[in-house]
Amino acid sequence: MSRLEGKTAVVTGGNSGIGLAAARAFAREGAQVVITGRRQAALDAALADIGHGALALRGDVADTAHHRAVAELVHSRFGGCDIYFANAGVNTITPSEAVDEAEYDAQFDTNTRGTFFGVQAIRPVLRDGASVIVTGSLASEKRLDGHAVYAGSKAALGAFVKAWAAEMSARRIRVNLLSPGPVDTAILEKLGVAPQDRPSFEAAMAAAIPLGRLGRPEELADAALFLASDASSFVTGIDLRVDGGMAIL
Ligand SMILES: NC(=O)c1ccc[n+]([C@@H]2O[C@H](COP(=O)([O-])OP(=O)(O)OC[C@H]3O[C@@H](n4cnc5c(N)ncnc54)[C@H](OP(=O)(O)O)[C@@H]3O)[C@@H](O)[C@H]2O)c1
Repeated sequence: MSRLEGKTAVVTGGNSGIGLAAARAFAREGAQVVITGRRQAALDAALADIGHGALALRGDVADTAHHRAVAELVHSRFGGCDIYFANAGVNTITPSEAVDEAEYDAQFDTNTRGTFFGVQAIRPVLRDGASVIVTGSLASEKRLDGHAVYAGSKAALGAFVKAWAAEMSARRIRVNLLSPGPVDTAILEKLGVAPQDRPSFEAAMAAAIPLGRLGRPEELADAALFLASDASSFVTGIDLRVDGGMAIL
């Protein structure tokens, strides 16, 4: 069964982790996939992995010219966009009193500004009935040490999603937030979890997550596929938590 046959999907941050798993799933289901990210080598490796004629466009989501280039590419090559997965994001953990302006700006520029202007740029080329999926974070709902800025940068996305879901409803465009709990991706290394610290990190996570483990990128990709496909045709404006139940503890 090809649930996304004939659709064009853009996945920001599609060269790693959750975005890569989603790009793979979308392509497997028949979508023409376009991925973005800043690292060309990672984009090249991801394209080889995804297959199915996927394309990549390198750029920084903090740069509005990049978003215009993505919209122009999907419009000129494929006539429009059916699935926009605004997923690129960064996270650093620092107590609020130690956060400097550069760290604050880096998270808000990528997570918040990058998502806002990405959706603004793609909007004119979204086809009626399209699906917009935005990666939030459980950190916006559940307080976690050192996450104030990251949580704030992602909390704004919940407000954006509600506004966009209402604004675009006349064109049957659905807009939903996908909020992961801890997922086993490269973001953990970028957070400074060293390989030797992984067992104790995973044990601490397991104790905090009812299902007793980190999530896998493919499990987030399955949720993104649900939101991208007709299986969620009456779903808009929601926050879909995929967190192993972490929010309830
Ligand atoms: N893993 C988790 O535990 C977790 C939990 C909650 C939420 N999330 C969210 O899930 C999303 C995906 O993260 P992940 O876990 O899959 O981490 P990841 O493997 O580190 O992937 C992050 C992706 O974002 C891209 N990216 C980062 N900054 C960018 C920028 N300025 N411009 C363009 N692309 C940029 C990266 O590509 P380049 O480096 O090549 O630019 C990469 O493809 C993020 O929004 C993250 O905040 C993750």
